[in-house]
Parts: sequence; C-alpha cells; structure tokens
Amino acid sequence: MPVYKAVQGTRDILPESEMAWRLVESTVVGVADRYGYRRVETPIFEETGVFARGVGAGTDIVEKEMYTFKDRGETSLTLEPEGTAGVVRAYLEHGLFTQAQPVKLFYLRIPIFRYERPQKGRYREHHQFGFEALGEADPALDAEMIALLWEIYQDLGARDIVIQLNSIGDANCRPAYIERLVEYYTPLKDDLCDDCKVRLVKNPLRLLDCKEERDQPKIAAAPKSADFLCGPCAEHFGVVRTLLDAMALPYAINPLLVRGLDYYTRTVFELAPEREGRRQSALGGGGRYDGLAELLGGRPTPGIGFGAGMERAVELLKEQQLAVPPTPAPQVYIAVLGAGAHVEGTVLARDLRSAGWRAQIAFGARSLKAQMKAANNSGARWAAIIGDGELERGEILWRDLAAGADVPDDARQFSVPRAGVLEWLRERM
Ligand code: HAM
Repeated sequence: MPVYKAVQGTRDILPESEMAWRLVESTVVGVADRYGYRRVETPIFEETGVFARGVGAGTDIVEKEMYTFKDRGETSLTLEPEGTAGVVRAYLEHGLFTQAQPVKLFYLRIPIFRYERPQKGRYREHHQFGFEALGEADPALDAEMIALLWEIYQDLGARDIVIQLNSIGDANCRPAYIERLVEYYTPLKDDLCDDCKVRLVKNPLRLLDCKEERDQPKIAAAPKSADFLCGPCAEHFGVVRTLLDAMALPYAINPLLVRGLDYYTRTVFELAPEREGRRQSALGGGGRYDGLAELLGGRPTPGIGFGAGMERAVELLKEQQLAVPPTPAPQVYIAVLGAGAHVEGTVLARDLRSAGWRAQIAFGARSLKAQMKAANNSGARWAAIIGDGELERGEILWRDLAAGADVPDDARQFSVPRAGVLEWLRERM
C-alpha cells in the first residue's frame, strides 16, 4: 500500500476521463464565444474578507466550510469556496466598470474548496465553470444567462434536465418576507434541528436550505418569497419569465429555491437532472447579486451569474452515455530494431511531430513482434519500421495497420526513401 492517499473528499482526475473534461471545456468555451463572454482567471486564494463578506457570515459556506489559514505574514487567506466574489473583487480592482457595460466574463475549471461531508457528486475540492455579467440590471441579461446555462447542457446532449426559477426580492421587499418567515417558524422552534434553531436567529432565509429530513415538511409549508415581491422586483421577475417563455426554455417555478449564498437578489435559478420526477443535486446554479459589489467596497453594481460543477457534468456524460470523442490515437507508430535504427527512429519521430503528425516510438529493445503488437494496440494507422536493411538503403518501411489480415504484405507494405517520407505520408492521410 502506498503511504499517502489523496485527502478525503479530493480526487485525482486520471487520463481515462480526460476527453470528457476536454469536451465540457470546449463546449463551455464555444458557448462563451457565441454569447460574447471573455475568460477571467483570479487567484485560488483571496483575503478571507472577500468571501466572509461576499458570501455572508450566516451561510454554511462561511460558517463551516471554508479552508482558511494564516500565511507566514499573518494574513488570513481562504481557498476560494466559490467563484463569484473573487471575480467581483477583480472587476472593482481593475476598474472594469469604466468599460462598456455589461462586462461579460467566464471562468473554467477553477478549483473550489469546501469542507463538506464527502459523498457522490459532493467533494471537498471540486471544479467549476461559471459565467458572470456585471454592470447591467436589465432582466434580459437574466434570461440570457439562463439560456446560456441551458445551451451548454444542450450542446453536451443532456436529457431530462430542468431549470428551476424563483425570485427572492431585494433589500426593499425581502425584510417583510423575512419577518413573515420568522413569524411562521417561531412557533415551530422547539421542533427544529439544531442548525435551524441558530438560523432562525441569525439568518432566517437559510432555514429554507436545511437538508434535514424532519424539517422538509416545514419548508414545504413556509411562506414563499415570490408572494412578497415589491413592484419593481415583481416586474423584473415577470420580464424574465416572459423572455424565457418566448425562447421556449423549459423551466419550473420553484417558490422554495433560495440558494445557499447571501449575496443573491431577485432572480435565482438552478439546473438539475430530473429522474422519475425527483430532482437530483444541481448541475449548476446562480442568480442576480445586485448588492455584492457594494459589500466588497465598490459602487452599487448589478450583476448576475452562475457556477456549475464540472465533476457533475462529467458524471452526467457517463450516466447518460453521451458522446465523448475518443482519445486521439497516434497516426504513426515507429518500430525500431537495433541501436542505429533507434537513432534514425528518434529523428523520424521528431520530424513527424514537428510536421503535425501524432507519432509514437517504441522504447527499450523489444522484438519486432512485440513492437508490432504495441503498434496495433495503439490504434495507429501506420507502422514505420526501421531495421538494418532500411538503414543501409536509407528507407523507411511503412505498414498499413488498417488493412485487413487477408491483404498480402506487398499490398500493405511500402518502402519509401527517408527523404520523401513526409510527402508520402501527406498523400496518404
Ligand atoms: P453553488 O450553487 O454553491 O453556487 O455552486 C455551483 C455548482 O457547483 C453547484 O450547482 C454544483 O454543481 C457544484 N458544486 C457545489 N458544491 C459542490 C461540491 N461540494 N462538490 C461538487 N460540486 C459542487 C456558487 O458557487 C455560486 N458562486 C454560483 C454563482 C455564480 N452565482 C452567481 N454567480
């Protein structure tokens, strides 16, 4: 047994899933280009305040899940537990508010750290792609954001997924809703889980995030935020729905969706697979966060975005058996017999690769039979064989590995002068 193992809740991403990750990445980049979002990369750690303030003190993330440490200069740092606060920090720091608004940004394969109870689809380090649009309050941007998330999963070929939508109002109307929520929960207090007893006092909206089985019926019967929206919030929500309807995007209103981060205002949404009518854990989620920039010391700046778990996207590809391109096989496999041939083969491999071909060469001193077996297993189209005879004549022997076993050797093997090899190959591939 090895001495060390990956830390609980973390995973190695091995080459066997490489193509699925690559497909998710290229799909995200393709959709980002089509929608006009540009890539941003922020550091994986920030000063703790960025998240403590941004995400909110009463949230599970800040209270229980952050990886916070002091560096050698005694500065409190936190490994990013989500992507949005860092992006807004960068937007403010670099004065992106002076550019044409909205500033439309995306991030890809960023590591996110949360000290959660590890289980399938829930890790202590996971990766997200996400999109953020800052500086514009138009509900059309909410609709674009939701359409964009939907489109990524359409492009991947996903089936049986649903968008859930809600509005949680803003600083004008939410206080009245919270008050009503506290009124509703107060008589139920003794029967709440320990966490919820604290939530009732510290952050009542988070009562609706509780995962405890026994609190679910109370959540289901709780007052709904959408019933308490002020005029402008109700109008905003109405326009978002009209636009989603106009685009014929399938969504369901979930009046209990509040999301687990404090920065949200108005629109919140999630995308999740639905199996036998039961919603599974979310593929992605987000919403509007019109107050976040101010919390981080900037001018009031509207914003909206979402984050999506890439492990979950890769898992979905597997579960739904969606098409993932195969790992590219080599086009040429070079077999070499003898020390002189090794030198010649090494140079040939370099020449082929420089010319753009995927070429592999056998290592070690193996028999021709073993090398040909490896060539066949590699999936290469051609074997380039170099032995003493080829060296003497200044040739390479090419063998067509795609030809059937019934094709005689003289119809599938070709001696080609070394100098003309690249041209010969170009004509045949
Ligand atoms: P979030 O809902 O906490 O939102 O995370 C976004 C997505 O990341 C989830 O829907 C899920 O797919 C994935 N995810 C979250 N936690 C885990 C985990 N422990 N293991 C695996 N996957 C996970 C945010 O983080 C917000 N920053 C999203 C946002 C962007 N809102 C506005 N802009």
